Amino acid sequence: MNSSSISDHETSMQRCMELASRGRKNVGNGAMVGAVLVRENKIIAQDWHREFGSAHAESGLLNSFTGRIEPEDILYVNLEPCCHQGKTPPCTYAVISRGIKRVCFGMLDPDERVAGKGIETLRSAGIEVIGPIARASCEYFNRGYVSLRRTGRPWITIKEARTRSGMISHDDGSTLKITDEEQDVWSHTFLRSCHDGILVGVETIVRDNPFLNTRFAQRNDLTKVKNYQPWRIILDPSLRIPTSANVLMHSRGDTIVVTSDALSEGGRVAEDALHDWGVRVMQIPLREGSFAIPDILRLLSTPRDDFHGLSSLLVEGGERTWKGFRSSGFIDEMVSLIGA
Ligand SMILES: NC(=O)c1ccc[n+]([C@@H]2O[C@H](COP(=O)([O-])OP(=O)(O)OC[C@H]3O[C@@H](n4cnc5c(N)ncnc54)[C@H](OP(=O)(O)O)[C@@H]3O)[C@@H](O)[C@H]2O)c1
Repeated sequence: MNSSSISDHETSMQRCMELASRGRKNVGNGAMVGAVLVRENKIIAQDWHREFGSAHAESGLLNSFTGRIEPEDILYVNLEPCCHQGKTPPCTYAVISRGIKRVCFGMLDPDERVAGKGIETLRSAGIEVIGPIARASCEYFNRGYVSLRRTGRPWITIKEARTRSGMISHDDGSTLKITDEEQDVWSHTFLRSCHDGILVGVETIVRDNPFLNTRFAQRNDLTKVKNYQPWRIILDPSLRIPTSANVLMHSRGDTIVVTSDALSEGGRVAEDALHDWGVRVMQIPLREGSFAIPDILRLLSTPRDDFHGLSSLLVEGGERTWKGFRSSGFIDEMVSLIGA
C-alpha cells in the first residue's frame, strides 16, 4: 500500500471507529475499539472489542487472522494498544509476536497504566508507529471512556426540548409534543444511539410514558448498529413507577431503576416484583431527600455482577432531574431542541 497518505490513514481509522461502535454499551466502562489490517489498500482482516472482558480488537484480529503477515501490512487501531496485563493479555505482545511491522493508532490511551507506554513498547521492538491519526475524532468517539479515565465520572449530555416560548410541557404538567419527526430522527441517531444510557426522573415516566429507545434511527436505517437499546435509567426513590410503564413492558433487561436503600414495606414489595420481571433495581442512599449526583454516577459507572458499568449518559429530563445535574456542575454537553 502506498500508505503514507493521510486520507488513506483517516479512512481506515474511520472504519476502526465504525467497527468499534458495535461494542457500544457491551464494553461496559471500557473503551470502544476497532482494528483493521490493511494490505495494498484493502482490508484483509478486522475485529472489534465486543464486550467487557473479551479480547481487545487488535488481539482478537491477530488471533483469528491465520494468514501470513507481510512487512508492508498496516495494523490500524483507534486506541493505543495496551501494554499491561488486565482482564486480557497485553495487546503489544500480540502485535510484536505476530510480526506486525507497521501500526497506525488514533489516540493515546488515557489509562495511566498505558498512557504512551504501549507506543514506546512497539517502537522499542522496531515497529514503525504512525499517529495519532484523526485524534480529535477518536477522542470524541470515546468521550465516555476518556471522561471516566480523566475525571472518574461518565460523560454527561443534557437533552431538552422546548417550545419557542420556553415550555417543556403543558401548564398542568401533561405531555406536550414539541419536536417534529426530523428532530426525533436526529436525536435518536446522534444522541440516544451515541450514549450508553438515557436517564430520566420517575415523573417523566408517569407523565409521558416514553419508550426511551432508538426507534426513529432504526426506522430510517440511519444507525449502523441495529436494534441498539441504551440502558434506560429511572431515578425513583420510592418505587412509584407504574407497572404499566413502557420501559417495564419492552426490553426490561435494559431498564435500571435507581431507588433508595431504605425503602418502605410497600417499596420492598415493588422491588421484588421488578426483580421478578428482570428489571435491574439499584439502591443508593438519599441525602437530604435526594440522591447525590456523584453517588448516581459512581453507581452507574462501576461494574458489578453482570452489569459492567457505563461511560456516557444522556439526561433527558424532566426539570427536577436536569436541575440536579446542572447544580452538580457535571455537564459536558447540552442540547436544546426548539420546537414550533
Ligand atoms: N420537553 C422535554 O424535553 C421534557 C423531557 C422530559 C420531561 N418533560 C416534562 O417534564 C415533566 C416532568 O418533570 P419533573 O421535573 O416534574 O419530574 P422529573 O424530573 O421527570 O422527575 C422528578 C422525580 O424524579 C425523582 N428524582 C429526580 N432526580 C432525583 C434525585 N437527584 N434524587 C432523587 N430523586 C430524583 C424524584 O422522584 P420522587 O418525586 O418520587 O421523589 C423527582 O421528584 C413532565 O411534564 C414531562 O412531560 C419534558
